[in-house]
Amino acid sequence: MKHKGFVLWFTGLSGSGKSTLANEIYKKLKVNGTKIEKLDGDVVRENLTKDLGFSPEDRDENIRRIGFVSNLLSKNGVAVLASFISPYIHQRKDLRAKVENYIEVFVNASLEVCEARDVKGLYKKARTGEIPLFTGITDPYEAPDNSDIELRTDELSVDECVNQIINYLKKKGFIFFD
Ligand code: ADX
Repeated sequence: MKHKGFVLWFTGLSGSGKSTLANEIYKKLKVNGTKIEKLDGDVVRENLTKDLGFSPEDRDENIRRIGFVSNLLSKNGVAVLASFISPYIHQRKDLRAKVENYIEVFVNASLEVCEARDVKGLYKKARTGEIPLFTGITDPYEAPDNSDIELRTDELSVDECVNQIINYLKKKGFIFFD
């Protein structure tokens, strides 16, 4: 499979399914020989942005650095799967302006559903105040109204979401067969 460089930027609440979708897309494109890299909040924050916390300023700096790296990869023909809450409208506006072939995927599950899943047990800690400034509880998630793809992960199966993304990439000419 031939492809261009692009960045699938997954935005959404913690527990909305960003990493799950990125992992599935990764597997699907990797076996087809795509040059592909995953950048995931939990991993990147242990490395590239280890010095940053969750204040609004630190979140902006986190997203700015990752956007910078994503753009370099995209410009060099790599498919990038970036999964970050990226909660603020101005962050995503900036990414769209600066990142080559930026494709925004709004991973949309209600707060109720994400909190009920509480995969990492963080919502519980946010409710008790153990974790301050938690997205959706004590810090805002400014939902996008201009994303390129929106997926209701609380209504669709993982396969359905993955297919929608792959179809989008094909339709827009980001991935194509010889
Ligand atoms: S972002 O806001 O800067 O885009 P990022 O995606 O890198 O966030 O990191 C989010 C992950 O950090 C969450 O999935 C969760 O595991 C963890 N986390 C720890 N503290 C917080 C917090 N206060 N708000 C949101 N996520 C947090």
